[in-house]
Amino acid sequence: MRLILLGAPGAGKGTQAEVISKELAIPAISTGNVLREAIRNKTPIGLEAKRFMDNGQLVPDDVVIGIVEERVGRDDCRNGYILDGVPRTIAQAEALERFGVAIDNVVSIEIEDSVIECRMSGRRVCDRCGASYHITENPPKTEGVCDACGGELVVRADDKPETVRERLAVFHRLTEPLKAFYEARGKLLVIDGNRPIQVVHEEILAALGKSV
Ligand code: AP5
Ligand code: MG
Repeated sequence: MRLILLGAPGAGKGTQAEVISKELAIPAISTGNVLREAIRNKTPIGLEAKRFMDNGQLVPDDVVIGIVEERVGRDDCRNGYILDGVPRTIAQAEALERFGVAIDNVVSIEIEDSVIECRMSGRRVCDRCGASYHITENPPKTEGVCDACGGELVVRADDKPETVRERLAVFHRLTEPLKAFYEARGKLLVIDGNRPIQVVHEEILAALGKSV
């Protein structure tokens, strides 16, 4: 199963990727998490990516394409993987096709722009493993502590309202055209993301033909 999760910032890609990854026993690859880890480790890629991410802009395609090409080539990807937040541009999608990556399904999780701000203001992410929580919709068992790894939960640097607005504009301009790209290839599944997390999850599994 090679799956792409497509959707606006805050649509729930990361939340759903984590659960599907456990259920299908395939890794979830989030370019956002990889880039945030690079920033924490102050690597050259992290230093370059930071100025784009802090402003809500996309990191250049060649940087992201290099990350994904290396990651999907690792052993744990042999039985499939979930791409969370990549591809993000037509150029990235074309690069995947050039590497010979055969995508089975593309799930577009859709929510209204007006819901996004509330999602982002309540989001907390694990500083260590990147897991995503929400203070009311998906709280951790212990406040401020990641259920999965015990890391500290923090507010993401790019979740400020003005940066969220910019990320949303970038999504509509550069990422939304991927829906037509994958629809033309017969891969697109559209899911209403504006329902409780568990309901969205069940709909995704049903659309993929997996039993709940
Ligand atoms: P990235 O980390 O990918 O961020 P994003 O796409 O903007 O999406 P988010 O992670 O903000 O949202 P999500 O859909 O994962 O939502 P989540 O599940 O957390 O990218 C960050 C930056 O990195 C980009 O701006 C760019 O600069 C760079 N980058 C990354 N990939 C790139 C690429 N391929 N090319 C170029 N640049 C790239 O949910 C959000 C909140 O809502 C959480 O609090 C969650 O608990 C809650 N929630 C989730 N589902 C529900 C629900 N159904 N009901 C209620 N609450 C819910
Ligand atoms: Mg995410």
